[in-house]
Amino acid sequence: MACEAFRINPVSRMATRERQALHDEDMTEPIRREFNPWRLCVAPMMDWTDRHCRYLHRLLSRRTRLYTEMVSTGALLHGDVPRHLRFNAEEHPLALQLGGNEPADLAACAKLGEQWGYDEINLNCGCPSERVQRGAFGACLMAEPRGVAEGVKAMRDAVAIDVTVKHRIGIDRTESYEFVRDFVGTVAEAGCRTFIVHARNAWLQGLSPKENRELPPLRYEFVHRLKRDFPTLSIVLNGGLRTDEQIEQQLAFVDGVMIGREAYHDPWRLSQWDAVFFGAEPLVGDRDEVEARMVDYMQRMAGEGVPWSHVARHMLGLRNGLPGARRWRQVWSDHRLKGQPPVLVSRAAAGSRLSVEV
Ligand SMILES: Cc1cc2nc3c(=O)[nH]c(=O)nc-3n(C[C@H](O)[C@H](O)[C@H](O)COP(=O)(O)O)c2cc1C
Repeated sequence: MACEAFRINPVSRMATRERQALHDEDMTEPIRREFNPWRLCVAPMMDWTDRHCRYLHRLLSRRTRLYTEMVSTGALLHGDVPRHLRFNAEEHPLALQLGGNEPADLAACAKLGEQWGYDEINLNCGCPSERVQRGAFGACLMAEPRGVAEGVKAMRDAVAIDVTVKHRIGIDRTESYEFVRDFVGTVAEAGCRTFIVHARNAWLQGLSPKENRELPPLRYEFVHRLKRDFPTLSIVLNGGLRTDEQIEQQLAFVDGVMIGREAYHDPWRLSQWDAVFFGAEPLVGDRDEVEARMVDYMQRMAGEGVPWSHVARHMLGLRNGLPGARRWRQVWSDHRLKGQPPVLVSRAAAGSRLSVEV
């Protein structure tokens, strides 16, 4: 196997120790056990939820489950494995999302994910992009529930960690609940216990992926029905959730919710989630503390040759809604400052923000 050389991930060994520590800490917090592990998740988002973004999200919430961007089996089996799989030990609990359709390839990649220390392998059955359709995976797999079941079985046979599926409620103009019910039923028979359901169809012709996240109507009632029909499965609802009130409402019907765009554009929202949805202490006091820790992280990443702008782009929404937020954001996205150390950029950003406030 091309990726054999990368079988042992130093991060994953560190991660195991860290996870043990977190686990021990959790033992002193009985509330932890009451919650479904998928109660609150940040969605996999291509080009957005890379390891730097996830580092930020983890600074803000200890308990929210995080997902990688989708990685195709081809990219893993024939490409640069560390580039796709490395992550920071702090990011757990963390799922690797795979895109693919060949059971043997999925199994090999799931194994790789497990060896690198991921907590879950998630199969993408919801992406409608043309590129993904050409590769015959993503949303079009919903037309082949038996094929998905085979893929899931192969992955489950290969790894001990959770194997989950993220999917839509239908493809094209299928409007029947029975379509998604039968999909879930068939895949559950292969041993999948957790389904993350983006509560709208994927229209496979004529829409961009962006339009496919907006135009097909949301039907939360289909997801609620799935939970009623499959009470022993974990059913996680995704799509269009914006406020904590909406999250709370949905948690009355399903085991968990997954938030995508809102979490990315307004990351400070995550800072309240441990308290609001898990009854735990918030991790951070204020945005300045988060920014300071991100600056430390940028300095650490500079040692790996990562420019600070690759990290900073994910935190541009951190001060949304506050006076001076626009000026602060402009400084952090100013390419002329690229040669400066991040600590100086942070100072300049604070200066511009405070000059607006007074
Ligand atoms: C920029 C972007 C990239 C996305 N990439 C992926 C992806 O790689 N895998 C996936 O399953 N979904 C992907 N999605 C879909 C999200 O995971 C989620 O299902 C969708 O945005 C609906 O949730 P939301 O309304 O809370 O944003 C992406 C969404 C966005 C905005």
